Amino acid sequence: MTPTEPAKKRFSFPTVIVLAALLLVVLLTCVPYLVSIALAEGPATADASPIFGVTIPAGYRQWELVAPAEEAAPLDELRAVVGNQVAVDAYQAGKLPFPDGTILVKRAWKRKQSPEFASATIPGAATTIQVMVKDPRKYASTGGWGFGRFVNGKPVDEAQHRTCFACHEARAKSRDYVFTRLAP
Ligand code: HEC
Repeated sequence: MTPTEPAKKRFSFPTVIVLAALLLVVLLTCVPYLVSIALAEGPATADASPIFGVTIPAGYRQWELVAPAEEAAPLDELRAVVGNQVAVDAYQAGKLPFPDGTILVKRAWKRKQSPEFASATIPGAATTIQVMVKDPRKYASTGGWGFGRFVNGKPVDEAQHRTCFACHEARAKSRDYVFTRLAP
């Protein structure tokens, strides 16, 4: 009996090299992608508000202004409410309730006197970022809104988050729990 050619000889050496190189390319393409997903999701969950799991939305600094506001002492702050495109479209159409996907962000700063012009007040240090996210299914028990309050990028405690809906419900229920009107 003559020994037959072993089955493993089916792949020639150059073919194996090409396959190995392809595998390497696929791995190198996928790894940074997987790492970026892991990194993006990691901090987002850690920085989510208690009860609601709301995070500071990406890009909110570029969002359109809904209205500025002032808060008297003791907080003594300058404020600006901004909204994502869904929010701005709803405001412009005068649409209530706000649609699923609406996000409103209230930015706030200490008051500061302009160094160039005594009677002008400008934003000083940023104090808080407050967020309302509309998701009627997820937040059914709080009027469809999820709340988040952040100081230095970190969510404040659960007790503070228990107060949000109560006040918005008591005073602004007829306007889908939103106080701020589009600035004229
Ligand atoms: C005691 C009442 C009260 C409580 C508690 C309260 N808010 Fe508000 N909120 C207001 C008022 C009044 C405004 C509008 C005036 C302003 O901009 O300050 C407002 C405005 C907002 C806005 C802009 C949209 C809108 O409704 O005008 C967001 C976002 C917001 N609040 C988030 C929060 C979050 C998050 C919490 C809980 C951590 C919270 N609020 C707790 C009274 C309250």
